[in-house]
Amino acid sequence: PEKAILSTRPELFDFHGVSMTHYFTDNWENVQNFQARPDDILIATYPKAGTTWVSQILDLLYFGQTCPERHNNIPIYERVPFLEIAIPSLDLGYQSVISLWLCYHVTCFPYQRFPYSMFTPHAGKDLADKLPTTPRLIKTHFPVQFVPKSFWEQNCRIVYVARNAKDNMVSYFHFDRMNVVEPEAGEWNNYFHRFLEGQMVFGSWYEHVRGWWEKKQSCSNILYLFYEDLIEDTEQELVRICSFLGLSPTTELKKQVTEKVQFDNMKNNKMVNGSADEVFDLKISPFMRKGRVGDWKNHFTVQQDEQFNEDYKKKMKNTDLQFRTVL
Ligand code: A3P
Repeated sequence: PEKAILSTRPELFDFHGVSMTHYFTDNWENVQNFQARPDDILIATYPKAGTTWVSQILDLLYFGQTCPERHNNIPIYERVPFLEIAIPSLDLGYQSVISLWLCYHVTCFPYQRFPYSMFTPHAGKDLADKLPTTPRLIKTHFPVQFVPKSFWEQNCRIVYVARNAKDNMVSYFHFDRMNVVEPEAGEWNNYFHRFLEGQMVFGSWYEHVRGWWEKKQSCSNILYLFYEDLIEDTEQELVRICSFLGLSPTTELKKQVTEKVQFDNMKNNKMVNGSADEVFDLKISPFMRKGRVGDWKNHFTVQQDEQFNEDYKKKMKNTDLQFRTVL
């Protein structure tokens, strides 16, 4: 059936110094008062840096053996709630809470969408509150200064993923074209300039990656990953993730997870490839689009590349944070 979305393309506005849309600020008070638990794991990223990839990796590591079916049956946005999202017409599939609970506590129960409309939350925070599995994996795109304080008070572990700005921009452009709850992408050259100015949902890429990098220097609970490293050697990054989380998976499990999260396998899995997501128009652009380092070369003109590099040097001076734009 055609996806029925009541939501419309939102306007960007300044919110405490960060460009945002109301879909991610409407629930601000509740989100800020979110009660984290010490074993919660926060997956934090600037949009399009590899959030879904790392979410799937963590979900498989924690639940892949006890409940192998959840990865084939429950959409990623129900297994890993998106904390700050609040879209009235969106069904975040609260029904799956029941399946997750049964799967976790009783048996690996086949997932069903129970027809209980009263169990339909529209806010990621409500879904996170009700997650029956431990640890809770929670996703956010917030810049570091927006993270609810209880995550810090509870010393939660945080996995941050960053991606080089050029590929991140290209990926975000195609995402904004196909996601009806994002502002219109418009034409590429205009988008390019908006990105440099930080006129994107969740603000400036430069401030986001730097803000989290600086926080990491004083906070050992943050693991800072790079999309490019994940591409180059997924298994090696998996080992780093496990060591950070205190997990000791068997060689077999490591192999299995690495295999399941390869781009083509995720592209074919409806629970992670965007097929289940009501707000995506996959006819315009797939969610699992290219999954490569260096696709920016197919988008940037020579002039844009020069302008970008010059601007980048200014914005990224005084930091030792380094990205690779080619492998
Ligand atoms: P592209 O648009 O460049 O293809 P997010 O999950 O943060 O929205 O990020 C989406 C980006 O990560 C997309 O980039 C998507 O293809 C890529 N991605 C998702 N899963 C991946 C995987 N298993 N391997 C490589 N890239 C992946």
